[in-house]
Amino acid sequence: MTALWWQTCVIYQIYPRSFQDTNGDGIGDLSGIARRLDYLVSLGVDAIWISPIYPSLMVDFGYDVADYCNIDARFGDLTDFDDLLMQAHRRGLKVLLDFVPNHSSDQHPWFVESRASRHNEKRNWYIWRDAAADGGPPNNWISDFGGSAWQWDEVTGQYYYHAFLKEQPDLNWRHPAVQAAMYDVMRFWLDRGVDGFRIDVLWHMVKAADFPDNPPNPTYRFEMGEMHRLLQLHSTDQPEVHRLAAEMREIADGYGARGQGDRVLIGEIYLPVDRLMHYYGGERPEMHLPFNFQLIDTRWDARSLATVITNYEAALPPGGWPNWVLGNHDRPRVAARRGQAQARVAAVLLLTLRGTPTLYYGDELGLSDVMIESSQVRDPRELREPGLALGRDPVRTPMPWDDSENAGFTNAKPWLPLHADWPTRNVARMTQDTQSILALYRRLLALRRACPTLSIGDFVLLNVEDDTLVYERRHDAERMIVALNLGERQHRLQLPDWARGSRLLLSTIEDAALVEDGAVLLGSNEAVVLKAS
Ligand code: NOJ
Repeated sequence: MTALWWQTCVIYQIYPRSFQDTNGDGIGDLSGIARRLDYLVSLGVDAIWISPIYPSLMVDFGYDVADYCNIDARFGDLTDFDDLLMQAHRRGLKVLLDFVPNHSSDQHPWFVESRASRHNEKRNWYIWRDAAADGGPPNNWISDFGGSAWQWDEVTGQYYYHAFLKEQPDLNWRHPAVQAAMYDVMRFWLDRGVDGFRIDVLWHMVKAADFPDNPPNPTYRFEMGEMHRLLQLHSTDQPEVHRLAAEMREIADGYGARGQGDRVLIGEIYLPVDRLMHYYGGERPEMHLPFNFQLIDTRWDARSLATVITNYEAALPPGGWPNWVLGNHDRPRVAARRGQAQARVAAVLLLTLRGTPTLYYGDELGLSDVMIESSQVRDPRELREPGLALGRDPVRTPMPWDDSENAGFTNAKPWLPLHADWPTRNVARMTQDTQSILALYRRLLALRRACPTLSIGDFVLLNVEDDTLVYERRHDAERMIVALNLGERQHRLQLPDWARGSRLLLSTIEDAALVEDGAVLLGSNEAVVLKAS
């Protein structure tokens, strides 16, 4: 097999508001990303995915798009974008944009027209329904951010559907004109040279045609957030979404021969593994990479992790390429979930599993979730259902670059506060420290680049015992062993006969494991990578 770039690459997610400000408004911008490209190259990643940068009212911080084919002035303009793309490509970095097809902003001209009258040509570009007999919403569907997913429109006397905020009306993807317009949006950016898209909430795009009520969720608890009161049986994951996904893939594949290599599509899909697998496609290919978020939610013990990995590997369809994610702009950070010591073990896991890993900015520094005072809350998710720890501001705080004012992120007041330990937990300081988690990430990324076995080799589970998880990665004649200690106690792990004489390539701790007499002495919270042959 000849591996394609998106199979061997490591993707780095940039939340653009928080990466680097250059125009002094306390919000990151495109020139800021361009300024930091050399850091990303030195870190050793291959591709960046930038969360939305399109003109937006910022009600959901860019996921409410008011113009799909332009750049929000806070981030720069199309010239800045072209420049960033050119500079990234010059350094061998791929650039992926965030495509938000399920909904637009209510200020998008399409929706402005759609809500203008029932007879407007764009009325059916969005999802309008009459009130129920009692005047209430057409059905019981709940917004992912809590509350009814239907908004009454006084002027035209109907409800419109919004899976997220009322300022984010859902587009009607059953309408051919919507499909055509949105496919043109993809072409607009692909023609400019982007290397692909992360597609927002792909599994939401089509809803059951007759809008039946969703059934109650028997495992609902208040802390889960109101959206979980119902199972999203009819409002998501409808069979018709697969034709759309296949059409998007066909568009992306149409750009394969233009000298820039293949373009990649990554679907944001939160579904159980058996449902997720359908998004690789059936007769027609769909997503190259349907995001696999299981490492975020799984219990952090050796047995659970082994089960997740082996079940996922087993469920992949023929030719389906695996991928792994430890964190993103919507979920608690890995350091907050697992603590600093296990964040290092998690880094080894992420970067030694078969398939394409996605890293969330700042995780390479061990950034944790930042406590946000109620007066500083910006995220609508938190504002709508406060106190349930569903808010996402804590994971979107500015990237700390150095120990100068505002951590080198901005010379103004940052839009969200910095984490408290930024004077020491920052790129400049941690670059000097060979034992920092940043140094570990650099070593891991360099190792992964040097040993294709780590990205494309077969995965073989070797041993799960107590707190330890041991697996092999094998490619041609090369055999590597990864051993993780998920706990505090030391373990002596006997290596299989073929692995006697293995060399230690990397450890997460300074006082690295001993490899002797065909055994590894694995310290507390230690993870190692060994090379057998
Ligand atoms: C998923 C995005 O990741 C999230 O940040 C956003 O709020 C919703 N989609 C709505 O667009």
